[in-house]
Amino acid sequence: ASAGCAATGQCLSYANQEDILRFCAEEDLVLIADEVYQANIYIEGKEFFSFKKVASDLGLLQRVPLVSLHSISKGFIGECGRRGGYMEVTGFPADVKDQILKLASINLCPNLSGQICCTLMMNPPQPGDPSYDLYIQEKRAILGSLKRRAELLVAGLNQLEGVTCNPAEGALYAFPRITLPRRAIEEAARLGKQPDWLYCKELLVATGIVVVPGSGFGQAEGTFHFRTTFLPSEADIGRVVSSLGEFHAAFMERYRNKEPAGAVEDAPANGH
Ligand SMILES: Cc1ncc(COP(=O)(O)O)c(C=O)c1O
Repeated sequence: ASAGCAATGQCLSYANQEDILRFCAEEDLVLIADEVYQANIYIEGKEFFSFKKVASDLGLLQRVPLVSLHSISKGFIGECGRRGGYMEVTGFPADVKDQILKLASINLCPNLSGQICCTLMMNPPQPGDPSYDLYIQEKRAILGSLKRRAELLVAGLNQLEGVTCNPAEGALYAFPRITLPRRAIEEAARLGKQPDWLYCKELLVATGIVVVPGSGFGQAEGTFHFRTTFLPSEADIGRVVSSLGEFHAAFMERYRNKEPAGAVEDAPANGH
């Protein structure tokens, strides 16, 4: 379960989280909560609740074995290169926890810079600290820019023919639904590929933009999507959106007019 809005950019509500926890309790399941996007929420009225808090509110903290994941590669820190993260384990029997600790302890070489970054993420500057004001200013600037980029990308996607995209509530992604011409679906079948794969591959070849076919994540039968991100800088994202729009219009036009597979071309009228 991802409380912070993974592939689709949607956030779980508190009620969703309660349902998931109750389900885990009823079915004796371990809950692995990927909470790496906890700082990346952009819309009013939604906020991050850790599964640990919701479990505690429901009195299920000792009942549901819970693993909460966090990483320095997301949020507003974005330190992908340093590789730091942690898992917090609650509600496990003591002997299982001992084994987890033993496994973690036999890692030979600590990843020092990643560990330092993790510590900084978990203990940010507090009011009154010398770097507090600058820290808050940078945090707001980064999250504000991500929010603007998210809105720009989603608005651009929603202007395209046959494309609908929910607001990116959080994380770093949008997951637009695309309607593809019948001939594009036939062409994909001829190649033994999924229709959204064909779209994504042609987008890559035409523009250099890499997106991920919705079929890679799972989607309702007969619907097509792609997963994209608003990580390009504010200087670049406008160009990305317009280039995507130009590609989309050309793709739709080409497949709408494409000859049916196997059609024999008419002989030129002048006999050449
Ligand atoms: C939901 C989610 N969790 C975890 C990760 C990866 O985290 P890390 O960079 O710490 O391996 C990603 C990467 O994109 C992600 O989308």
